[in-house]
Amino acid sequence: MPTALIQGASRGIGLQFCRALVSRGTKVVACCRDPSNAESLRNVQSQHPGLVDIVQLDVTSETAIQHAVQHVQDAHAGKLELLINSSGILSPTRKGETSLKEVTLKGLKETFAVNALGPLMMAKYFSPILMAGEGTIGKQAADPKRQHAAVLVNMSARVGSIGDNRLGGWYSYRMSKSALNMATKNLSIELGRGRKKIVCVALHPGTVDTDLSRPYHKNVPKGKLFSQEQSINYLLSVIDDVSITDTGKFYAWDGSEIPY
Ligand SMILES: NC(=O)c1ccc[n+]([C@@H]2O[C@H](COP(=O)([O-])OP(=O)(O)OC[C@H]3O[C@@H](n4cnc5c(N)ncnc54)[C@H](OP(=O)(O)O)[C@@H]3O)[C@@H](O)[C@H]2O)c1
Repeated sequence: MPTALIQGASRGIGLQFCRALVSRGTKVVACCRDPSNAESLRNVQSQHPGLVDIVQLDVTSETAIQHAVQHVQDAHAGKLELLINSSGILSPTRKGETSLKEVTLKGLKETFAVNALGPLMMAKYFSPILMAGEGTIGKQAADPKRQHAAVLVNMSARVGSIGDNRLGGWYSYRMSKSALNMATKNLSIELGRGRKKIVCVALHPGTVDTDLSRPYHKNVPKGKLFSQEQSINYLLSVIDDVSITDTGKFYAWDGSEIPY
């Protein structure tokens, strides 16, 4: 049975990944900043006894990441087959950050910390644990000659694509997701060299009905707003289909490649 770690599991896409993975029998280490406030996640845990292990983790804290690694060493035999970095913030302020005059250094730093720097630190500390994985997620899961030990997913966003940027705005969010994409590409090179390879991909989930996108739903064309279930079903199909030849790529929910 594979084990997955979801970072940013209290709400939205991370929480739905937990629901979908446990419903197919995958053990989930569900990381969130404040487990006492993560009621929906605790409900998933009580509905699937023995499958959900909730671990406190603020992705901006290196110490918290190290504690989570120690926990996986002790409680999950020090191995994982899937890690999903799902934490994200769209805007450092409630008002949004659509133009240059709204950009602040504090907001940029906060957004980068959650969206790009934290996920990279997760990769740094969890890569030995992913290398110990058994490769039972991905296209080659059933192939004894599979070339990967685990899959690392960074939840990105199409707006992080430099080539696809036609509208501008959202400086912190776009820049942090571009940085996350660069981290994903770099990781794919370094973690694809050894005998125990890790498939690293960045994914765009579509526009999904979550707290993050809620203030902007009125601008989403009819039929283009995915439910969380819809988006995660699509994303799991993409994850189930990756192999080492796909490492370093940026995929949308429908499996199409997005230019960096
Ligand atoms: N929804 C969309 O349409 C959409 C589109 C493209 C990309 N994405 C990406 O998909 C990912 C998930 O987004 P979502 O829509 O599910 O957002 P969401 O519903 O707002 O959830 C955001 C998650 O990030 C967590 N988080 C924030 N700061 C954190 C920190 N310092 N440490 C750990 N966790 C932290 C939140 O935890 P708390 O509960 O503790 O705040 C929450 O679990 C993000 O990376 C986002 O950029 C979403």
